[in-house]
Amino acid sequence: MAAEGDEREALRALVGQLKTNLGARGRSGLLGVAMRSGSIKSGTLGGSRAPREELARAKPALPHAATLVVSAPTEESAETGAPRGAEGLKLLRDDIGDCQRCKLAGGRTNLVYGVGNPDADIVFVGEAPGADEDARGEPFVGKAGQLLTKMIEAMGYRREDVYICNVLKCRPPGNRNPEPDEVASCEPFLKRQLAAIRPRMIVALGKFAVQCLLRDDAPISRLRGNFRTYEGIPLMPTFHPAYLLRDPSKKKPAWEDLKSVNAALARVGVTPPNPAAT
Ligand code: URA
Repeated sequence: MAAEGDEREALRALVGQLKTNLGARGRSGLLGVAMRSGSIKSGTLGGSRAPREELARAKPALPHAATLVVSAPTEESAETGAPRGAEGLKLLRDDIGDCQRCKLAGGRTNLVYGVGNPDADIVFVGEAPGADEDARGEPFVGKAGQLLTKMIEAMGYRREDVYICNVLKCRPPGNRNPEPDEVASCEPFLKRQLAAIRPRMIVALGKFAVQCLLRDDAPISRLRGNFRTYEGIPLMPTFHPAYLLRDPSKKKPAWEDLKSVNAALARVGVTPPNPAAT
């Protein structure tokens, strides 16, 4: 009799454990609680650290702190079959050509395509070229660019290790805000740039880049610091370096955002070439 009771008890314990495990995997479990509580947004995947094979198999999604899911780089885009890396970026540059697709063409000195490693793990996306960038044909080379370079170096990378580009490839007159028709003309190029590089992480700098990539017009002060995804790629919204120059008190939270980026990448084995800097 006692043995039968023990067996029943053990069975009950096992069923209880199974229920707990299943619950933790479904929306009704821990993840569901986190999503309902708002600590994880829909469109991102949360939960405790997933096994590495699972991370490699699944397509991205990165919540606050826990899980970074990255796809392994391949030679071609799985979705379109388009070439990746340097070849993909060159083909796209050729397609853009001497672009006259929007009204900014007439005012530019140089089209500012992008610069850096075509196979970068991290892509930084800004708003649009300013006067210095227009003159040089390279993104982020003025004062804000110098600060961005310092931020990248503080993360343990050199400028040439990462890729840097903008939503708009041509300078808006007087550095005014990009207009919707300009964004509409230029955004497909950004999309193709990101598809060619397929980075492990996008850092969106400032309101315009974040709004354009996420289609979310919440204030940058609310969006920054929380991982989202763009086309399956983890994305960290943070302050624009030009804003940091105007309000240096925001440098600390921006640095926290970049440290979160490094920490998330480190969890899947991606470390900066100069990690001592972090
Ligand atoms: N600001 C941007 O958003 N991009 C640049 O390239 C320079 C300044």
